[in-house]
Amino acid sequence: MQKNHEKITSNNHHILNDSFFITKKTDKSIKIKTKTTKVNDFKNHHISNYSTYLSEIFKKENNIAIWKRKLNTDLIKASNHFILKNPNLEFSKVIKKNSLKKMCSEIEFDYKILIIIEDINKLVNEFCDLFNIKSVWLRLDAINKPMCPKFHTDDVRCRMVTTYRGPGTQWIPQNLIDKNIKESDIMELDIGHVALLKGEGWQGNEGNGLVHRSPHKNTEYKRLYMTIDFVEFYHKLNHNRLNKNI
Ligand SMILES: [Fe+2]
Repeated sequence: MQKNHEKITSNNHHILNDSFFITKKTDKSIKIKTKTTKVNDFKNHHISNYSTYLSEIFKKENNIAIWKRKLNTDLIKASNHFILKNPNLEFSKVIKKNSLKKMCSEIEFDYKILIIIEDINKLVNEFCDLFNIKSVWLRLDAINKPMCPKFHTDDVRCRMVTTYRGPGTQWIPQNLIDKNIKESDIMELDIGHVALLKGEGWQGNEGNGLVHRSPHKNTEYKRLYMTIDFVEFYHKLNHNRLNKNI
């Protein structure tokens, strides 16, 4: 199991100048009031109650597509159980579509969490179908502090994210970039929401990757966070890491 993928990914972020957005001081001292995501048609992002509209990410103007799904009670219970059983989880594997067994063998598994594995399997399949690919880089982490605390864009084509427990990813609408960002401009995905984040690596999207960061909370949290990436990104990161170690 790969344990240090966060260290690797940190080399593939475009960290944005703090003063350009929100100062560090503000991050620490003021309780951030974030907008929860509403169904809307803002420019550059598409938000819907239906998974089929995740395909809106293919529109040139959109750099995030959000499926505002709600987790049912069983999934919420299973997520709590999952994090109890796997408090330090750092799952990171390239997996094929419908690889439930492979994932189950890598974690502290019991049948109470099967519903989450099945849900992740559906999301993997959704990502594969959208992009016509057969495998993905899947990560599932139990975390209690921001993984990427500064606003940044990623050198990826596109990434799917969802949070099963704890606060969701924060992001800024593209039409507000280059403006004086207020805390109230920061959007936050809710628990269960599934989002496709378009990065700098998407052809023609250079300079317009989604600006985002890990959630900032004043209180401690336990977060169960999933990301799905293209396998090519996994290989690129490992290649860069190996070259650095030579
Ligand atoms: Fe990121």
